[in-house]
Amino acid sequence: MNFHLKSLKIGFLGAGHMSQAMIKGLLENGLDANKIYVSNRTPGKLQKLSESHKVQICSSNEELVETCDVVIIAVKPQDLLAAIEPISQAFLERQIVISLAAGLRMDTLEKHLPQCRLVRLMPNTPTLISKGLIGYLTHDEDEALKTVVEDLCAPLGSVFEMSDEDQFESFMIACSSGTGFVFELMTYWHEWMIEHGFDEEIAQKMTIETFLGASLLAQKSPDLGLEELQSRVTSKKGVTSAGLESMRELEIERALRISFEKAALRNKEMSRLIK
Ligand SMILES: NC(=O)c1ccc[n+]([C@@H]2O[C@H](COP(=O)([O-])OP(=O)(O)OC[C@H]3O[C@@H](n4cnc5c(N)ncnc54)[C@H](OP(=O)(O)O)[C@@H]3O)[C@@H](O)[C@H]2O)c1
Repeated sequence: MNFHLKSLKIGFLGAGHMSQAMIKGLLENGLDANKIYVSNRTPGKLQKLSESHKVQICSSNEELVETCDVVIIAVKPQDLLAAIEPISQAFLERQIVISLAAGLRMDTLEKHLPQCRLVRLMPNTPTLISKGLIGYLTHDEDEALKTVVEDLCAPLGSVFEMSDEDQFESFMIACSSGTGFVFELMTYWHEWMIEHGFDEEIAQKMTIETFLGASLLAQKSPDLGLEELQSRVTSKKGVTSAGLESMRELEIERALRISFEKAALRNKEMSRLIK
């Protein structure tokens, strides 16, 4: 098989949010719409994608698998096995299959598609604006496969290979679910500012700029670590210092750690349910 990304036919099984984000990123980065194929349970999204992005539509998942070199399975985790079981024989020996499903471990994928080269991939939602973080895990050491995955994901953000399944799942909690956790914190900022008299729209803008500014400053100061950056906003016995002291007394870190662990536990439960 030729592993140059532009020569491969890329298939998306499931045409939901994540497929649409990935397709948009790939097209914006010069992949030919003739090389992108999509199938979906119901036809509505396919029609729209074909009109908006001129991608190729497959009338069944089986047709998609038979047509494509790389199959990205982008259905909800609870729908994945039902989607692939009836067509598992259609997958070719060493065909590349990329699963986006949380809670579906590599050994479960291997059980259902033992003939394929398997990848677990976890993008977070900033992928939608090419600012994503994408973690991936392959089921064996396969440099050519890693190159395909990295080339495929490069237009969507920063791509990182995970060393094992535990690391993959920690990445998923901190960076994919983590995006949701950051929005939760931003909501608290936003509400506090509204309570203190700011117009809703302005409060939202200021909240976003506070998080964005801090992140960009950290990004642009790689030599300074987060603690040093924090100490530069904090004078002894000053205003920021009083707030930080209270955050530490209230054990916000402990509360967040518990939330991360709860999310990890839910992920384990889901893995047990989907076998
Ligand atoms: N969205 C995210 O931020 C995000 C982040 C990381 C990972 N993921 C993962 O990406 C995957 C997709 O998530 P999503 O947010 O894109 O979900 P979504 O918007 O609900 O899309 C899922 C799509 O799968 C289709 N589908 C379901 N069963 C099918 C089948 N048997 N054959 C063909 N198509 C089928 C659905 O079709 P209908 O139109 O008929 O419903 C729907 O269009 C999930 O595994 C999720 O865990 C998502």
